[in-house]
Amino acid sequence: MTKPPSFDRQAPAKLNLTLAVIRRLPDGYHALHSVMVPLTLTDAISVTPLGPRTAKTAESDVLTVTGYDPGPTRDNLVLRAIDAARLTVGTSWPRAPEPPPFLSAHLTKRIPVAAGLGGGSSDAACAMDAALEAWDARLTATQAGAIAASLGSDVSFFLAGGTALVTGRGEDVAPLRDPTGEPPGFLLVTPRLPISTQAVYDALDRGTRPPVAGASRMASEHFAADLQRGIGPRDLLDRAGVLAASNDLLPATISIAPTLLPFRRALARLLGHPIGQSGSGPTAWVMYASLVEAKHAAGLVKEAWRDGTLPPVGDGEPIVVATTLLTRETAARTAQGGT
Ligand code: C5P
Repeated sequence: MTKPPSFDRQAPAKLNLTLAVIRRLPDGYHALHSVMVPLTLTDAISVTPLGPRTAKTAESDVLTVTGYDPGPTRDNLVLRAIDAARLTVGTSWPRAPEPPPFLSAHLTKRIPVAAGLGGGSSDAACAMDAALEAWDARLTATQAGAIAASLGSDVSFFLAGGTALVTGRGEDVAPLRDPTGEPPGFLLVTPRLPISTQAVYDALDRGTRPPVAGASRMASEHFAADLQRGIGPRDLLDRAGVLAASNDLLPATISIAPTLLPFRRALARLLGHPIGQSGSGPTAWVMYASLVEAKHAAGLVKEAWRDGTLPPVGDGEPIVVATTLLTRETAARTAQGGT
């Protein structure tokens, strides 16, 4: 018997280099202004059609996961994305009126979970894309966009792919130029302290906000304009301090997880660089000129953890990763099978 084909995707993590919360919307969500970048840190997802439906075959899509534990499988956005794509495809695929077959999906989780890195949303965007290829089905951009927005606020960013200015609830994604030159390295330090995004926004609504209203928005607008004009590696590094200070959710995150504050201060002392936060946290990011420098810093953090220089935070040793910005150029090369 021949092995069924598998459709594979690499699902990148994201960083919010800025995150300004503009206002609370009538539906309880918040209008944002955020410059987001994809990273070369990825989850891997692979889907395989389960064959024509018969009494003997599976009666639903199935998902298996290795790596970090993303929680109950039935709640996983991958299954919801595949289901939503199948519903929307309806009878507009080659083997209609049969419904598109169930899929077996396997997810390798390398992106820390509930960490502000968008892993679940990225998996969902990739699962939808892989499912459509597996079925040889197509959706219009409007249909795909509607599914993305219904799954979660970050999914639209991953569907679009690439450095972008994200506004609205997250569904308005405008591409921005990548910084030129060698892609910056990022050190990511994720305390094992899963944080609910909703709880962070609730704390913000109760009044836990940055001391200077509007500063993140101004920085975010300037940075988006700078990127669009074209920004080189030196200019990007020069802005690291402003960017790291431009996350309106940080005070709310710290109000929920107060041990993050001494931990972040100790990290800043250890590394001598500005410490940002991605999304609602708890991941701290630090920008470097290259992956090599970020890797060196990762070594310093691991050593400091072992010798007790860093204060305790969360459940044991934080997850420390060195990665880089995933530029469109690198993404295109990787898609063509290069490295
Ligand atoms: O859309 P997603 O499921 O990722 O959002 C998780 C939670 O974060 C929402 O339930 C909402 O409380 C909050 N949120 C928000 N405004 C946004 C994005 C998320 O209030 N733009």
